[in-house]
Amino acid sequence: MDTSKAFPTLRVVTHPLVQHKLTILRDRETPTKIFKELVEEIAMLMAYEATSDVELEKIEVDTPLETTNGRQIAGKKMTLVPILRAGLGMVEGIYRLVPNARIGHIGLYRNHDTLEPVDYYFKVPGDAAERDFFVLDPMLATGGSAAAAVTSLKRAGATRIRFLCLVSAPEGVRRLAGAHPDVTIYTAALDRELNTQGYILPGLGDAGDRLFGTR
Ligand code: PRP
Ligand code: URA
Repeated sequence: MDTSKAFPTLRVVTHPLVQHKLTILRDRETPTKIFKELVEEIAMLMAYEATSDVELEKIEVDTPLETTNGRQIAGKKMTLVPILRAGLGMVEGIYRLVPNARIGHIGLYRNHDTLEPVDYYFKVPGDAAERDFFVLDPMLATGGSAAAAVTSLKRAGATRIRFLCLVSAPEGVRRLAGAHPDVTIYTAALDRELNTQGYILPGLGDAGDRLFGTR
């Protein structure tokens, strides 16, 4: 994983499998079915990195031969929180790694004119203060959606929050890190910039539309 002097809370997942799959994801010719599978796979590989420091506790386990010491993830269940819609594409891959995770949902869409997020849904487990939250969204563009999602989670009591995205723009990382310096941001790529419509360049286009075949 790479860190960045400009963005101390940013971690770029440089694993060759992630970078290989991301390149196919960017390709405009990649069809919806493959796009969806790749988002799941990259999310799973990124989650492996993003969970590398979660707390473990000792537990005794009976093998068929004897009792030994094992480790299990400590505390309350991890909670995945996709930002609707596109974040949904990242849930399944991570859920396969962490099958006892809880899943919350945050509904946000960008107003096309102002590029500011409009929220329409929020549901997470009640005991938020005791959980590790993983907010999921493939795209961190202006950072408005991500920052708003984290603000809502904190309002609900969350204190331990990580943000996972596939592609990020410097503008978005700056905004999210500025508003929430306690949130580590995991990304597969830090791209060059935003265009005037708020799309990431070079990016991969509209993640929601490519995932769900809408336009
Ligand atoms: C996209 C993306 C993020 C947001 C990023 O969602 O999935 O949620 O834009 O942009 P920002 O960093 O400038 O806020 P969109 O609003 O298109 O909604 P959708 O997932 O329902 O398509
Ligand atoms: N949302 C997307 O889906 N893609 C972008 O490039 C920016 C925001």
